[in-house]
Amino acid sequence: MMKFVRFMMRNAAMLNVPKHIDHYAKFSPSPLSMKQFLDFGSTNACEKTSFAFLRQELPVRLCNSLKEINLLPDRLIMTPSVQLVHSWFAQSLMEVLEFQDQNPDDPSVLEEFMEALVTLRNRHNDVVPTMAQGVIEYRDAFGADSVTSQNIQYFLDRFYMNRISIRMLINQHTLIFDGTTKPAHPSSIGCIDSCCDVTEVIRDAYECAKMLCEQYYLGSPDLELREINAKNKFQPIQISYVPSHLYHMVFELFKNAMRATIENHEASSTLPPIKVTVALGQEDLSIKICDRGGGVPFKKIEQLFSYMYSTAPRPTLSDHQRTPMAGFGYGLPISRLYAQYFQGDLLLYPMEGYGTDAVVQLKALSTDSIEKLPVFNKTALRHYKSNLEADDWCVPRKDPLNFKIAKASFIKQSSYL
Ligand SMILES: Nc1ncnc2c1ncn2[C@@H]1O[C@H](COP(=O)(O)OP(=O)(O)O)[C@@H](O)[C@H]1O
Ligand SMILES: [Mg+2]
Repeated sequence: MMKFVRFMMRNAAMLNVPKHIDHYAKFSPSPLSMKQFLDFGSTNACEKTSFAFLRQELPVRLCNSLKEINLLPDRLIMTPSVQLVHSWFAQSLMEVLEFQDQNPDDPSVLEEFMEALVTLRNRHNDVVPTMAQGVIEYRDAFGADSVTSQNIQYFLDRFYMNRISIRMLINQHTLIFDGTTKPAHPSSIGCIDSCCDVTEVIRDAYECAKMLCEQYYLGSPDLELREINAKNKFQPIQISYVPSHLYHMVFELFKNAMRATIENHEASSTLPPIKVTVALGQEDLSIKICDRGGGVPFKKIEQLFSYMYSTAPRPTLSDHQRTPMAGFGYGLPISRLYAQYFQGDLLLYPMEGYGTDAVVQLKALSTDSIEKLPVFNKTALRHYKSNLEADDWCVPRKDPLNFKIAKASFIKQSSYL
């Protein structure tokens, strides 16, 4: 009976969704630093404080994304996939809002909140492929000019970044306060490892990529790893970080490096190794992954980070038998978001004809690792509009210049100077 009443109340409340979205999107999200995440989860972890923070912060982050979805082209918003994603966000928003007036001192409220977070996280599991599907449907039906493509890229970067952050908040709460799960390492606080062994994660990711590579190509390049700990010479390199994020980035980079190496050395009997250097300084932790896979032309770098670009054949989603090695084109852009999420970055330096250096830059200090979050405001709004304006750098001409006309227009222009 109680469940039925709740169901009816929720349905009635859904009518108010746009009002709630407008309200919560007016708040800026509150970025947390790695140190705050750690302090929060360590000595006096307080579930009630976390509950109070999340019931306000989750609606703010959800609504900042919901507002921005509305700036996409109408025909993209109307695709069934984007509608589905929108409905998941709206549903999750309403479920979190049900806790606004509830008492944190009541243990059953905290328990229900925990369950609601798990449901929310599961509901959003397929947001990335579903959104990608919407973009593909839109492109196939209507094509996409460069302004639309730029706007979609800008949107997806911010949308997926927000998603990473929402999952981070939920994971921390559920892992820390759901007493049943023991952390993988004693130094773990939720999904953060305060002594994350960077080279161990790199080796794990290499081994996994190597297994995949051998299934596809029946061979794989070796790994040469060098570590330089400038802070503490003979100690292993350790920082406070989310091992699963680090793993994701280097795993993607290894898959790319391996594919390029093999495809660029088809004719030779030996494969050049992938050389990795890890360096820890006072501020930065840098990881450089160098392959000799032939690189790509310099002007293509931006394209490689596009959600729509891949040179591998597109794997079919129904192809569940084995994990594809490449082909969705999401490896680089999503990995860069993980790096940027805690104020780092992921850069590519190709040398066409030779190979590629991929560099992951992370903050070594937990006080510098602060969430990078999108905020829906006038600047964001302007970004979607300003792409329509003329470029403020000259566009090189393709046709030969007619000097008579050019001279006349120069005289005309200089009379205004
Ligand atoms: N190390 C590399 N060497 C050469 N080309 C690369 C390298 N890394 C990425 N690329 C190019 O960038 C494209 C996009 O990479 P990615 O985002 O990982 O998507 P995917 O691997 O699914 O194609 C690849 O298809 C490939 O053409
Ligand atoms: Mg890839």
